[in-house]
Amino acid sequence: MAPNYALLRDATEYERLRSQARAWEPATKRVFDEVALGPGAHCLDAGCGPGLTMRLMAERVGPSGHVMGVDVDADVGDEALALLLATGYGHCSFTVTDLEAGNPVPGGPFDLVYARLVLFHMHDPVQVVRRLWDAVAPGGHLVLHDYDLRTVDVRPGLGSVQEFKQVALAAFTEAGLDVHTGHRLPLLFQEADIGSADGTDVAGRLETMRSGGWLFAEVYRSILPLAVRLGLTTRPAYYSWFREFARDTVEHPDHALLWPLLIGAWKRKPSGPLLAAA
Ligand SMILES: C[S@@+](CC[C@H](N)C(=O)[O-])C[C@H]1O[C@@H](n2cnc3c(N)ncnc32)[C@H](O)[C@@H]1O
Repeated sequence: MAPNYALLRDATEYERLRSQARAWEPATKRVFDEVALGPGAHCLDAGCGPGLTMRLMAERVGPSGHVMGVDVDADVGDEALALLLATGYGHCSFTVTDLEAGNPVPGGPFDLVYARLVLFHMHDPVQVVRRLWDAVAPGGHLVLHDYDLRTVDVRPGLGSVQEFKQVALAAFTEAGLDVHTGHRLPLLFQEADIGSADGTDVAGRLETMRSGGWLFAEVYRSILPLAVRLGLTTRPAYYSWFREFARDTVEHPDHALLWPLLIGAWKRKPSGPLLAAA
C-alpha cells in the first residue's frame, strides 16, 4: 500500500482528515457548483479518504446517480463506505485502487472525477492526472483541489509556527513532493496534454491560534515519522515543540493564523462534435 505516503494511517489521522474535510466543505461545494454537479451524475472521488466528500457528492447526485470512492488504503475506504451505507447513501461504492500503479481507474467513465489533496502525495502527478482524465466521460469534468503550503503563517509571528512550517516544508520537499501543488494545477493539466484549465478557485482560511491551530499540531504529528527518518527533528524535540505550541495557543489565542491555500482547477472533456473537432 503506497509505501511512500508521507502521512500516518491511524484513527487520529483519519479524524484529522474528517475535521479538515468539514473545514473545506464550502470551498468544495463551490467547485461542484462551478461544474453544475447535479442529480443522476456518476462520480469518482479519487483518494477519497474517510468519505466526507463522497457524502457531499451523494447528496447532490441523489439515488439516480452513483458515487464511487477509490483509495489505496482499504481500511479508511471500507470504514467510509460502511458509514455511507448505514446513513442512507446506498448509491455509493468503494474500490481499493493504487492511483500510482499505472492501471486505468476502475468504474469509469464518470461525469465527474474529483481528487482533493491527493496529487500533492503523488510522485508522478502528471501521470496520475492523465489517468484521471482518461476516466472522464465525454462532456464530463475533471476537478482537482490541492494545497499550496506557502501561506502557512501567524501574525504576530510565533517561533512554534515557524518551526512547524520549516519542518513540514522540508519533510514534504525532501520526500519528493511539491508543496506548491495547488498553484501548479493548471500546469499539470498542460503537462498531461489536457490543455488549459476552464476555471480555477482559490480558497483560504484565516483562523486564530485557538480555532485553527489544531491543523498544524495534527499535521506535525502525522509527518513526524517521516521528519524523524529524514533527520529533520527528533521525538524529544517534537514533544518540546508541542509544549511550546500549546503554550503559545493559550497565551496568544487570537493571533491570526493562515492555513494553506486550497486551490481548485477544472476542465470539461469535449463531447460530440467538439470531440471530433479536437
Ligand atoms: C490527505 S488525504 C485526502 C483525503 C480526501 N481526498 C480528502 O480531501 O479528505 C490523501 C488520501 O490519498 C490516499 N492516497 C495516497 N496515495 C494514494 C495512491 N497511490 N492511490 C490512491 N490513493 C492514495 C490516501 O490514502 C488518503 O486517503
